[in-house]
Amino acid sequence: MIGITGLRKSFGAATVLNGIDLEIRQGEVVSVLGSSGSGKSTLIRCINGLEKIDAGRITVDGFDVSKPRDLAEARKRSGTVFQLFNLYPHMTAVQNIALAPVEVLKVPRKEAEAEARRLLQQVGLSERADAYPAQLSGGQRQRVGICRALAMKPSYLLLDEVTSALDPEMTAEVLSILANLAKGGTTMVFVTHEIEFARSISSRIAFLDKGQMIADLPTEEFFSDKGMALPRVAQFLSKMRKD
Ligand SMILES: Nc1ncnc2c1ncn2[C@@H]1O[C@H](COP(=O)(O)OP(=O)(O)O)[C@@H](O)[C@H]1O
Ligand SMILES: [Mg+2]
Repeated sequence: MIGITGLRKSFGAATVLNGIDLEIRQGEVVSVLGSSGSGKSTLIRCINGLEKIDAGRITVDGFDVSKPRDLAEARKRSGTVFQLFNLYPHMTAVQNIALAPVEVLKVPRKEAEAEARRLLQQVGLSERADAYPAQLSGGQRQRVGICRALAMKPSYLLLDEVTSALDPEMTAEVLSILANLAKGGTTMVFVTHEIEFARSISSRIAFLDKGQMIADLPTEEFFSDKGMALPRVAQFLSKMRKD
């Protein structure tokens, strides 16, 4: 389980996360929605220990992210895929995917690369296994990014707007991979602007507004009168559907 209680985070005078409580259990797919600037990426970065938190507590399978001696264990358990394709340009798809298992988990290289090829096959990229990032399309790079996270066999996959830099066709490509992972029982925290997709794969929707989690509801309820009764949610959904 990922457990977040009383999380606060400021940058200078700006409070970006203002008392967040959130629990993500094994097998859940939780989508985090909210306007740009509401604190979604900061939340993901805090879960991953990339930002130092000001107050509260974040645990990943019981490992406290703010304790230096727990952080490595917590990080092993949550694989992150970001919006930008941060693959190493001088390494092939397979090498990018096998890197962390070899360096961090000490998996023998041959084994790690075989696993990388298996993952690439799963996302329909067997033929591109030995290509460099520059030779791949945006959608393909993002699929490699997902494989790289999965290669660490994380308990949780954290996805931060992984399709927002992609055109519609590539977005569909990547979303279908994520839908398969969700069906296969992968636990996911999914930050997205793809509202209808979030609705189709999530067990729960958490809605962030100015650093506060103003809704945390089962998906059905979020999209029912209960969610619409929250003015910020209604406003957000009507704006997103117009765009
Ligand atoms: N490293 C940083 N330094 C200063 N301000 C930041 C930093 N990262 C994010 N912010 C601010 O925090 C707020 C929330 O940002 P972010 O978490 O990226 O929101 P979202 O992902 O929901 O769009 C924004 O106002 C942003 O400008
Ligand atoms: Mg963001």
